[in-house]
Amino acid sequence: MKPIQSVEISTEEQMQLFGLKLAPHLKIGDLVILEGPLGAGKTRLAQSIGKGLLVKSEITSPTFVIAKNYLGRVPFIHADAYRLLDSPSGGLQDLDLDTENSVTVVEWGKNFAEQLNDQYLLISISIVGENKRELVLSSAGERWKSFNL
Ligand SMILES: Nc1ncnc2c1ncn2[C@@H]1O[C@H](COP(=O)(O)OP(=O)(O)O)[C@@H](O)[C@H]1O
Ligand SMILES: [Mg+2]
Repeated sequence: MKPIQSVEISTEEQMQLFGLKLAPHLKIGDLVILEGPLGAGKTRLAQSIGKGLLVKSEITSPTFVIAKNYLGRVPFIHADAYRLLDSPSGGLQDLDLDTENSVTVVEWGKNFAEQLNDQYLLISISIVGENKRELVLSSAGERWKSFNL
C-alpha cells in the first residue's frame, strides 16, 4: 500500500464533487475500494462516481443484492461487501462480476475486493464531524503507482 493523499471534505456537496472529479480518471478494469464506518458516505461517493461515469439511471445502495451493474461511458459495477463480512461462503469472486470490462467500486471492500484485483485505489473515509469527512487515498499495484488527483 502506498499513500497518495488525504482530502478534507466539509459538506455533502464537496463529497459529490470529489466523486465527479475522480470519475474521468477511471478506466475499464479499474477497482476502487471504499472503506469506512456506517454513515461515512461510501454510498454517496459511489453514486457520484457513477454519475461522473455518465450513468443515467438512479444508483441505489447495493447492500441487499451485493452488486449492481450500470452502463455509463463504461460499464460500472457498484458492490457492497457488507453482507459478506460474516458470511461463511466465498467472497465477491463467487458473483462472477465482469470486473475486467467494467469500472468497479466496492464498499466495505477491503479483504473481499482485493480478491478481485491486486491493483486498486483505496479510499478510506473517516467521520470527522456531522458533515466533515477525511478521505485518505492509497494505492496498490502498478496501475495506481503514480496516480494523483
Ligand atoms: N460530507 C458528507 N459526505 C457524505 N455523506 C454525508 C456528508 N455529510 C453528511 N453525510 C450524510 O452521511 C450519510 C452517508 O450515508 P451513506 O453514503 O449511505 O454511508 P455509507 O455507505 O458509508 O454507510 C448520508 O445520510 C449523508 O447525508
Ligand atoms: Mg453504503
